[in-house]
Amino acid sequence: AQDHRIARISSAIRVIPDFPKPGIMFQDITTLLLDPQAFKDTIDLFVERYKGKNISVVAGIEARGFIFGPPIALAIGAKFVPMRKPNKLPGAVISQEYALEYGTDKIEMHVGAVQAGERALVIDDLIATGGTLCAAINLLERVEVDVVECACVIELPELKGRDRLGDKPLFVLVSAA
Ligand code: PRP
Repeated sequence: AQDHRIARISSAIRVIPDFPKPGIMFQDITTLLLDPQAFKDTIDLFVERYKGKNISVVAGIEARGFIFGPPIALAIGAKFVPMRKPNKLPGAVISQEYALEYGTDKIEMHVGAVQAGERALVIDDLIATGGTLCAAINLLERVEVDVVECACVIELPELKGRDRLGDKPLFVLVSAA
């Protein structure tokens, strides 16, 4: 059953206090990857949700969206598009800046990786403030891609990242209190 799978996924995620800074409870998905059943269940739950939805693009956010995105893309017959940190992609890029607590950051995608009118899923391991997912949505929408939904393994609901996505649907497996 779904509940059984979610419980296993949730307990396979390790929480490390005070990383990378004091006060941050880091949600470590590397321990989820060490449990093949929990990792498979994670991918299966996303695939069950997105198979047959006419999604041709799975856009994964660096770095941990690169772990969960590709197996989902393969299983639903979509292409995988990496959304990278600045100055990593070798070809011409389109980039989107976004605000951090202090300063700004940027994500980039190759020009020509997606076509106007394609239907995309955006995937990452975790939503905190929602700034990163928001930037990914904006970037894809600037090139007229239809972002159907965002999906994450973990949500930190206290940070209200979901609100920042407006009416863009967000699907998560685990809510970390
Ligand atoms: C984390 C996480 C998301 C982002 C979420 O990445 O994997 O990509 O932060 O935060 P937000 O909702 O507040 O935008 P991180 O900054 O640790 O980068 P990394 O994946 O390259 O380590």
